[in-house]
Amino acid sequence: MKHLIVYAHPHPESLNHAILDTTVRALKKNGHEVIVRDLYELKFQPVLQPKDTVAMKAGQTPKDIRTEHEFINEADVITFIYPIWWTGLPAILKGYVDRVFAYGYAYAFGEEGIIKLLKGKKGLIINTHGTPTEEYDEIGMTAGLKMTSDIGIFEFSGIEPIEHLLFGSIGIVNEEAYKEMLNKVEETINSHFS
Ligand SMILES: Cc1cc2nc3c(=O)[nH]c(=O)nc-3n(C[C@H](O)[C@H](O)[C@H](O)COP(=O)(O)O)c2cc1C
Repeated sequence: MKHLIVYAHPHPESLNHAILDTTVRALKKNGHEVIVRDLYELKFQPVLQPKDTVAMKAGQTPKDIRTEHEFINEADVITFIYPIWWTGLPAILKGYVDRVFAYGYAYAFGEEGIIKLLKGKKGLIINTHGTPTEEYDEIGMTAGLKMTSDIGIFEFSGIEPIEHLLFGSIGIVNEEAYKEMLNKVEETINSHFS
């Protein structure tokens, strides 16, 4: 299968980067094709600007957005890897979604309502956060994070969400726990894409 990973973390020595490496390694070991779009490395311009909307209304998609559309078009599976920042996506990734998952590309409105334009693709999300998992589970934040990304972004555009891993207590737990997280990432990849 063809996999597109959209990755948003500024530091190469982060846990998120280790998750990225583990994901890429497991997919390649299982014979999959993998493309990584590292948004910080690309210096992706995340602000949806008036000129973008004007150009897109005129059917002239800006070049950087068109490039991302080509990667999405080719992909069977789209994976987002990012840390939870202020209970959501880091701004660079939110801006990627704002600009790339655009009206007329990811969704449209028809007589019957919303038309999902990215049907046939699968979606996977891997997150880390500092708050303990039990706390986020208890207050409904885990469910909220899944709702806004799995349903609000992926399902809204027709992408079938197949799994959403959230690792909590980052910064508090010991080395062993980080190894277990990376093992869980590898197991998840193997279970869906062996
Ligand atoms: C700008 C910013 C906002 C954050 N917001 C949250 C948050 O809302 N909830 C939370 O549990 N952790 C939050 N954190 C903690 C990060 O999620 C945590 O440091 C990260 O997942 C650890 O992974 P890393 O080592 O790969 O950065 C935030 C961190 C930063 C820098």
